[in-house]
Formats: sequence, structure tokens, C-alpha cells
Amino acid sequence: MTWLITGGAGYIGAHIVRAMTEAGERTVVYDDLSTGLADRVPDGVPLVVGSTLDGERVASTLTGHQVTGVVHLAAKKQVAESLERPLHYYRENVEGLRVLLDAVTAARVPSFVLSSSAAVYGVPDVDLVTEETPCVPVSPYGETKLAGEWLVRAAGRAAGLSTACLRYFNVAGTARPDLADTGVSNLVPMVFERLTAHEPPRVFGDDYPTPDGTCVRDYVHVVDLAEAHVAAARALRSSPGRDLTLNIGRGEGVSVREMIQRVTALTGLGPAPVVTARRPGDPPRVVASADRAAAELGWKARLGVDDMITSAWDGWLLRHPGAGRG
Ligand code: WQD
Repeated sequence: MTWLITGGAGYIGAHIVRAMTEAGERTVVYDDLSTGLADRVPDGVPLVVGSTLDGERVASTLTGHQVTGVVHLAAKKQVAESLERPLHYYRENVEGLRVLLDAVTAARVPSFVLSSSAAVYGVPDVDLVTEETPCVPVSPYGETKLAGEWLVRAAGRAAGLSTACLRYFNVAGTARPDLADTGVSNLVPMVFERLTAHEPPRVFGDDYPTPDGTCVRDYVHVVDLAEAHVAAARALRSSPGRDLTLNIGRGEGVSVREMIQRVTALTGLGPAPVVTARRPGDPPRVVASADRAAAELGWKARLGVDDMITSAWDGWLLRHPGAGRG
């Protein structure tokens, strides 16, 4: 079995490549390096630089490396940017996936894992989100992830693929400092950036209908997320025609204020956060029920918030050596 990992030079993709390799799976990385880093690809794993919109290059990669499974992560993933550039997001995330699926079905690749997102749920009005919770995305990014699931499931039914759509909740942490997320578009690195500048972290609104008034999210360690992909890949390989849609989260809600308190406690840095205006489109609470992933894959997240924060901080210090000085 050889797995093609599109977006495998990215923060999450690199963790999946390592987990698959450590599990004895052969992998090939396909990445346009628009945000990915070539030095994240381990020695011995081939890297093909290209876009999933380039059907010919994708097709030649699938046949040239005798690919028998695809894990598709290559996509644009910033909610705010998707609101400004919706057509760019639809082209990259939906058309790019359609071209990829065309090549996958033509090459009769039997297994396909899609990186989806909790953003497909939009603003869920439930304590725990299950895979049956209505999907009403509130951003073009979330729409492209849901449309992607439709493409994958339709192609799977028509071509007899085994498919898994994995809905990531809020991913944080790193396996190693050099694999840390280099983007600063999510809570933990955004707080690091403020603390490094000796500025107060910002809480985007504290008047939500939650216990402390700040938004509640389900944070999952990227190492656990990568393990879920190994389990999903093996599940698809062992049963043709499988069609899985799974939440990948811990099933535990943590508020923004709680996360910031943990960051300041674990880094030893102040100052106290300031409350600013709400960020448009933020749901008050998005927390997974991870029961189906446990039942279907035997997967359950093992690592907690403190490991996410301390490992991410070690990665931040690697790129910002002076950050630890208060
Ligand atoms: C978390 C909470 C912010 C920064 C998005 C996508 C989701 C996934 C993860 C790709 C929110 C608050 C943040 C800050 C703050 N991405 N916040 N101060 O918005 O839950 O999810 O990223 O799949 O699909 O929708 O993640 O980390 O941006 O924000 O108060 O400086 O932290 O308002 O409530 P989000 P986030």
C-alpha cells in the first residue's frame, strides 16, 4: 500500500506522514508548497511539488508511485480569508478536490480519506455535536468542506471507493518543536504572538451564552489527529466500499478564557487578557461527540490541553528564541 498525502508538507500533513510512516505505511507527499515546507517531509518520503488542480501531474503521480490510497489535506483553511475570497476557496478546495477525485477514480485507487472540518456545522445549537447534527456552514470555508464531503461520498458510491471524511475540531500542539504550526491564525499561536510582544492576549467577546461568557471549543492534539488518520486508513483498506463520516475531537469543551489562563500559567508570561469585540461568525460552543470514531476506528484522543500548549510553546520558542523572556 502506498498512500498519497496531499498537503503533506503542511503542519497537520507532516504529522500524518510521520504517523503513517511509523505505522509501516509507505507514503508519497504531494504539495504545492504554497504554505507547506519541504523540510517537513522526512528523508525517504518522495515529495511531488504540484497543485491538485493539475490533473495530469496528479494522474502521473498516482500511477508512477502505484498509489492505493489518498489522504487529502491540501486546501485553503482560513475562515476570514474565505469570506474575502470565496471563489478562490471554491476553486482550491472544491475544484481542486474534483480534479483529484477524477484522477483517483480513473486510476482505480480504492481508498480516500478527506480532511474535513467542524466548520461544516456552522453554529450548532447542541451541547455535543454528533455526525447527525445538521450541517449549516456560516463561511465559504465551511461550505467548501461540506461540498468536499458531498463530492467524496458521491464519487465513493459511484466508483466503489472506500471513503472517510474526518471532521477536525480545533487542532493544536506538535509532536516536535520543528513540526509546530507556523501559521498565526488560531487561538494558541495568536496568544503566543501577543505575549511575545508583551501585549495582553485578546478575548474576542465575553458575552456569549457560556459559563464564563467566552467561546467554548474542542481542542485536539495534532498527534492524536494523526493517529486517527492511521486508524481510518487501515479501516478503509480492510473493508472495501466503506463510507465513514467522523468527528475528530476530544469531546471536552474548553473556553477561550480557560485556554488563555493555561497558556499564561504554562509559559509563565503575563499580562492578563483584555476583552475586545466579538469576531463575526464565531459560534458560542462547538464540542464533538467522538463516540462514532471510537466505535468505528477504536480511536480516542489521549493527549490533553496542557500537552498541546507546552508542545506548541516549545515550537514557538524555536522560531522566536527571545519569546520566553518576560
Ligand atoms: C477559537 C476561539 C475565537 C484568537 C477555526 C475554523 C475551524 C478550524 C479551526 C480549520 C474563537 C477565540 C481566537 C484570539 C480569541 N480550522 N479567539 N482571541 O474559529 O474555533 O475554528 O479554526 O479547519 O474550521 O473554523 O478557531 O482558533 O480561530 O478561535 O478570543 O486572539 O478563540 O473567537 O472563539 P475557530 P480559532
